[in-house]
Amino acid sequence: MSSAQQDGQKNNEAKARPLTAILLAAGKGTRMVSPLPKVLHPVAGKAMIENVINACRAAGVEDVRVVAGHGLNLVKTVLESFGVHIYVQAQQLGTADAVRSAQPDTIEGDVVILNGDHPLIEAEDIKQFITEFQTRKLDLAVVTAELKNPREFGRIVRHKGSLAAIVEAKDASAETLKIREVNTGIYIVRADVLSEFLPMIKNNNLKKEFYLTDLISVSLSHQLKVDAIKGNKKVSVGVNNQQELAYATRLVFRRKAKRLMEAGVLIIDPTTVYIEDSVQIDAGVVIYPNVYIRGQTKIGAFTSIEPNCYLVDAVVGEGVQIRANTYIEKSELQARASVGPFARLRPETIIGEEAHVGNFVEMKKVKFGKKSKAGHLSYLGDAEIGEEVNIGCGTITCNYAVDKKKYKTVIGDRAFIGSDSQFIAPVTIGADAVVASGSTITKNVPDKALAVARGKQYIKENYVKGK
Ligand code: UD1
Ligand code: CA
Repeated sequence: MSSAQQDGQKNNEAKARPLTAILLAAGKGTRMVSPLPKVLHPVAGKAMIENVINACRAAGVEDVRVVAGHGLNLVKTVLESFGVHIYVQAQQLGTADAVRSAQPDTIEGDVVILNGDHPLIEAEDIKQFITEFQTRKLDLAVVTAELKNPREFGRIVRHKGSLAAIVEAKDASAETLKIREVNTGIYIVRADVLSEFLPMIKNNNLKKEFYLTDLISVSLSHQLKVDAIKGNKKVSVGVNNQQELAYATRLVFRRKAKRLMEAGVLIIDPTTVYIEDSVQIDAGVVIYPNVYIRGQTKIGAFTSIEPNCYLVDAVVGEGVQIRANTYIEKSELQARASVGPFARLRPETIIGEEAHVGNFVEMKKVKFGKKSKAGHLSYLGDAEIGEEVNIGCGTITCNYAVDKKKYKTVIGDRAFIGSDSQFIAPVTIGADAVVASGSTITKNVPDKALAVARGKQYIKENYVKGK
C-alpha cells in the first residue's frame, strides 16, 4: 500500500477538504491564428478563462491556480483582478508538466484540474463531480463524455468495463479510435496522490510530451481507486479555433436565453438574442430579435425591447419601451419611459419616469426629468432638464467650448423649448420659461419669461421681377 493510499483512508474520514483548482492555460493556441492568447478570447462577453474561474469560485474553490506560459504578460494583466494565482510553465512540455508547474506539493485536500479553454463549464458541474469523487472515496477521477464524433479527444479505454487508460487520438490504433467515450480534460484528484504520482509520468509518446492522461494508468498500476465520472457533453466543448469559439459563444447565449424564458421572459426568437450571463431580466419583459444586452444591465418587468437594440450596463425600470435601433450605455431609464426608435443614450444619462426620448436624439450625461419630452433630432449633453419640459425638434446644447472644456445647461420644470434652439452653455433656463424657435440662447432666462434670440423676419415686396 502506498503512502498516498494510507493517507487516503485517513483523509476520507474528514468532511470538507480544502479545494484547489489548477487551470491549464499555457498552450499557444496555434489554431486560433490570433495575436491574442487563446484563453483571453471572449466568450459571451468574458475572457474564455474567466468563465472557468467564475465556475470554480462559485463551486467553492478557494485557491485557483492558473498555469500560464504563452502570452504570459497579457494573461497576467487580465487575470490580476480575479484574485487567482499565476504559475509559469516556461516551456510547453505537455499537460502533466503544466500541472507540475502549479506546485501540487504545496496543496492540501482535493484538486480539480480544468482546461482554460473549456468555457461552458459551470459551478453546478464542478460541484457534482466533486461530490461524486468524495462520496465514492476516489483517489483520482477523470470526467468523461460520450460523443458522436470524438475527433481529437483522448479515448477512454476500458477493460471489462473498468477504466484502464486514456489514449490520445494521435497515439491510438484504428480500433481505439472507434471508442466514443472521451476525456473531457477535467480531473479530480487528491493532492497527495497528485504530488506522489505526477513525477512518474514519462514522455514516451508521439509528441514527446508529458501527458497528464497517463496519471490514470500510473495510479491504476499502484492500486489506487481511480474511476471515470460521467459528465455532460457541454463540459467537453473546447475552443481550439475561431469556429469553435463562435460555437461556444452561441451555446452560452442560447443557455442564457433558455434560462430567461424558463423564468418568464418573452423572447420572440432566442436564436438571435445575445444576452450576457451577468444581465438580470424580470419576468414579463419582451425581447424582439437581434438584441444585444451586456454587462451589469438590469431590466424591470413589462419592459419591451424592440429589434436591433444594444444595451450595456443599463438600469431599466418597469414598463419601459425601448424602440428599435436604440443604443444605451451606462444609463438609467425609469419606469414607463420610452426611448427610440434610433435613440442614443451615452453614459450617465438618467431618463425620468414616463419621459419620452424620440428618434435621432442623442444624450450624454443628462438628467432628464419625469414626463419630459425630446421627440426628435436633438443633442443634449451635460444637461439637467426638469420635469414636464418640452424640448423641440433640433435642439442642441452647445456644451463643448473652444477652451476644450464642457459646460452645463440647466432647464427648469415645464419650460417650453421651441424647435431649432441652441444653448451656449453654461446657461440656465428658468421654470415655465419659453424659448422661441430658432433661438441661440447665450444668457440665462428667468422663470416664466419668454426668450427670443433670432433674426427678425424681413419682407421685401415684389422682390422677384418679371412674369
Ligand atoms: C487534452 C487531453 C485529451 C483530452 C483533451 C480535452 C492530454 C495529453 N490530452 O488534449 O485527452 O481529450 O485535452 O480537451 O492531456 N497546456 C499547457 N501546457 C502544455 C500543454 C497544454 O498549459 O504544455 C494546456 C493548453 O493550453 C490547454 C490544455 O492544457 O488549455 C489542453 O492542452 P491541449 O494541447 O489543447 O490538449 P488536447 O490536445 O486538447
Ligand atoms: Ca438657427
